[in-house]
Amino acid sequence: MNHKPGKYKVKDIKLAAEGDRLIDWAESRMPVMTALRKEYSRTKPLKGYRIAGCLHVTKETAVLVKTLVAAGAQVSWSGCNPLSTNDAVAASLANQGISIFAWHGMNVKEFYWCIEETLKFKPNLTLDDGADLIFTIHKNHPEFAEKYVIGGTEETTTGVHRLRAMAADGALKYPVIAVNDAETKWDFDNVYGTGQSTLDGILRATSVLLAGKNIVVAGYGHCGKGVGVRAQGLGANVIATEVKPTAALKATLDGMRVMKMDEAAKIGDIFITATGVKDIIVKRHFERMKDGAIVCNTGHYDCEINLVDLEKLTKSKRLIRDNNIEYTLKNGKRIYVLAEGRLVNLAAAEGHPSEVMDMSFANQFLSQVRLAVAHRKGQRLEDGVHDISAAQDQEIAGVKLKTMGYSIDKLTPEQRKYQDDYSAGT
Ligand code: ADE
Repeated sequence: MNHKPGKYKVKDIKLAAEGDRLIDWAESRMPVMTALRKEYSRTKPLKGYRIAGCLHVTKETAVLVKTLVAAGAQVSWSGCNPLSTNDAVAASLANQGISIFAWHGMNVKEFYWCIEETLKFKPNLTLDDGADLIFTIHKNHPEFAEKYVIGGTEETTTGVHRLRAMAADGALKYPVIAVNDAETKWDFDNVYGTGQSTLDGILRATSVLLAGKNIVVAGYGHCGKGVGVRAQGLGANVIATEVKPTAALKATLDGMRVMKMDEAAKIGDIFITATGVKDIIVKRHFERMKDGAIVCNTGHYDCEINLVDLEKLTKSKRLIRDNNIEYTLKNGKRIYVLAEGRLVNLAAAEGHPSEVMDMSFANQFLSQVRLAVAHRKGQRLEDGVHDISAAQDQEIAGVKLKTMGYSIDKLTPEQRKYQDDYSAGT
């Protein structure tokens, strides 16, 4: 890798050595990425391609970036959340010659400035978590989609949801692979990754006992389920709020109580939003909460908890500990908001553990390779949202299992024939 510093803006380049160690640690837990890097640094399928990335700058993301570079890509990176950048990791990447624009605690204007900086080298490929890069290109540089960009990848549920809406309107001007919809992403990263890292963030910001607490999880999708089940495992009484009957039903069969937020607001000790929708906790909920209630969000955007409403009810505020602001309301009650309502798992902790990001980022990496290889063969994918292939999913899961030391059975030809035989019955 090129060790000359690239073009960058990070908090403090002197943190690079600390970042190197964090990245080494993550790498030691990411055997699938290590195997991919070894294989593709020989064939370099991304040689000649410029990739702009907008995804949380964590130690795991650094492993992805280094793998893209090893496969021949030129990369320019920004973080996809103002509070999720690890400054030491950003410094390490900058010091290794990666063009990176990211620091912890930036404001929204700076956030978009960083994205614009990464677009200056006119990328051929985009790699997103939350689709901000794609939206910025479509809004500010629509000509890029025609002239330079051959495709993109999207990491998260919220991003994929919006891109599908954009594609349905005919507004999406290049192909995007929905990494989120791979089984090796949503069934692991969203469930086990979010489950563990969200509780990790809450504990780092509060250090409270979870056993015996009423924990309200808003949204019982894959992320909400992961959080709910893990909280239950630590002895919490979990309450789920939902709008979708099947999801609510799942929560009840998982042993959670289901009720409307209007009711849950009165009895919750800790509230965790995981819906991808705005205004889940608003004024009337804050008014009903108990003194000392803790509120946080683990959805992609910071719109789930309406902090403007909370401010209106507030008499005074103070930072009581890192990532934890105490709001004292005019009625004397105190409410604690973690990580300013942004992703608590990334802002207050380190995001999902390396072991699950190993699979999610293998999907990201292979999808970028798929777009480049198709383009090189003159077979650019159609504009719109594309799924990860089932074969890629199974291959990643198979490699992961192998690195964990597990082997599984294989169907015999007779069993396979039996499976497909629709004349066979009882
Ligand atoms: N999203 C959730 N956890 C993450 C991590 N550790 N790195 C990058 N993106 C993430």
